[in-house]
Amino acid sequence: MSRRILSGLQPTGDIHIGNYLGAIQQWVELSRQYDGFYCVVDYHAITAQHEVELLQQRSFDAALQFIAAGVDLERSEIFIQSTVPEHTELAWVFSTITPMGLLERMTQFKDKSRKNNKNINAGLFTYPVLQTADILLYKATDVPVGEDQAQHIELAREITQKFNNRYGELFPEPRTLITQARRIIGLDGKNKMSKSLNNHIAIMDTDEEIAAKLRSAVTDTRRVRLTDPGEPTDCNIFALHDFFTSPEQREEIATGCRNATIGCGECKKILADNISSFLTPLRDSISDLQQHPDTVRDVLQRGTARAGELARETMAEVRSRIGIR
Ligand code: TYM
Repeated sequence: MSRRILSGLQPTGDIHIGNYLGAIQQWVELSRQYDGFYCVVDYHAITAQHEVELLQQRSFDAALQFIAAGVDLERSEIFIQSTVPEHTELAWVFSTITPMGLLERMTQFKDKSRKNNKNINAGLFTYPVLQTADILLYKATDVPVGEDQAQHIELAREITQKFNNRYGELFPEPRTLITQARRIIGLDGKNKMSKSLNNHIAIMDTDEEIAAKLRSAVTDTRRVRLTDPGEPTDCNIFALHDFFTSPEQREEIATGCRNATIGCGECKKILADNISSFLTPLRDSISDLQQHPDTVRDVLQRGTARAGELARETMAEVRSRIGIR
């Protein structure tokens, strides 16, 4: 069976380097080799408190950034989830075969409920069911994500088995694809990089913003004074160098950190420069595309049309399997 990719991202505002390294960079690679669907998941975004008047623009901006990042449009479609209503329809069907017990185990649900205990809604609870619908609607075989989503894809496989067992084989079991950048830690040095924790570097941050954010980022806590030696493997800033800095320069920094000839300030400055150089071409293509919103609209329109076609086919099969129409 040929491989088909599906992945998604919530339009919560700034796309950060965790999203980029953990997910989008993989999408770009995979999009050159396989057919794929890359989706801005706006219905997922409303499970948290969101800014109503900004949602549409944020969805558009996210799609624009997928295109600018270089997702190959020859073989891939980019679209906004809510423009293909079959996503929520299939999610309902799946919710009827998903045991509550499985959903209760989801660590992301537990985390989000703890952090936001005034808004523990049913949508947040069934969030992974909608995610499963996103994937299976296109009978996707591979799902490139960061590590935080692996448990949801595992659940998607369980829902697939349950559906296939009860109603007859229809869906392939999706595989999780995870890269080396599986979990980028935020600038607080302890939590996953995320917009909601405000511990992130956004891909659209300016050079000055990147440098300023890094200046206050947490490093190896043993290095209180410049003369204190440090251990790079215990430092999140050094971990970030892995993705932006050449092996030679990393080696120099590691040695300098261990013998206290390079201070955290200098190490951060090098990182800021390297992140800026890394992001410059991406930010340039984003700025270029912002001058041509019609191009983005065209891509999205085509994405909705092609995704919709496939989604309607799948939904027709599902309805017939479950005895509706
Ligand atoms: P979201 O919007 O939180 O994140 C988008 C992608 O970025 C990855 N990611 C990270 N990777 C490494 N380090 C980090 N600090 C980091 N932060 C985020 C995420 O793992 C994800 O791959 N539920 C999903 C969106 C979704 C989806 C789907 C994904 C909806 N339907 C179907 C795949 C397939 C989410 O909230 O991702």
